[in-house]
Amino acid sequence: MRIRVLKDGPYEVSGGVPLKKMTIGANKQGESTHWIEGERLKTGQAYRLCRCGKSKHLPFCDGSHAHGFDGRETAGRIPYEEAAIRYQGDGMELLDQEELCAVARFCDVAGSIWNLINDAENLEIATQQACDCPSGRLTIITDDGTRVEPELKPEIALICDEPEGKMGPIWVRGGIEIEAEDGTVYEKRNRVTLCRCGKSRNKPFCDAMHMEEE
Ligand code: FES
Repeated sequence: MRIRVLKDGPYEVSGGVPLKKMTIGANKQGESTHWIEGERLKTGQAYRLCRCGKSKHLPFCDGSHAHGFDGRETAGRIPYEEAAIRYQGDGMELLDQEELCAVARFCDVAGSIWNLINDAENLEIATQQACDCPSGRLTIITDDGTRVEPELKPEIALICDEPEGKMGPIWVRGGIEIEAEDGTVYEKRNRVTLCRCGKSRNKPFCDAMHMEEE
């Protein structure tokens, strides 16, 4: 299974990667609290996902990028654990690489993960919030050195941000390899979000610019 970023073009997905929808679920206060599993889309072994945001056949590419899309990859290549800021809490450490933020907002609930980590009793909820973060911006490391990751099978999920009425990024789950236009491979991670609005300043990854969309 592999995703190739094509020059000023789409994501080329190969190896029969399952494709489905995932919606952000909210509580009465509108806070992100759970993920709602959506339908699985019919695909072949290989397919191309739109990266410019202009396709009339979303989520698939229809060639609209040819009308002028600057898809230059600008993301840094520093490994996550080196690039992330470390916040030492009580009984846990929080790793945070802000430029990866896709603004799914799970980390804002119950006073925010940055406060929760200061009490060891909050380990479970802080870990859940970090694991619900689709972009992999946040990771909890417990005091025994365990990097807590959700169990994700290899698949792609198209995020629907229902509470905000926005189309979210492409959630790459389960450590699928992502190959840059120049043939190099990005750090393999359990979860990352790829831009599909075409506006990210951290391509190919989402940096929440889709929230600025009309
Ligand atoms: S989809 Fe999030 S910045 Fe493009």
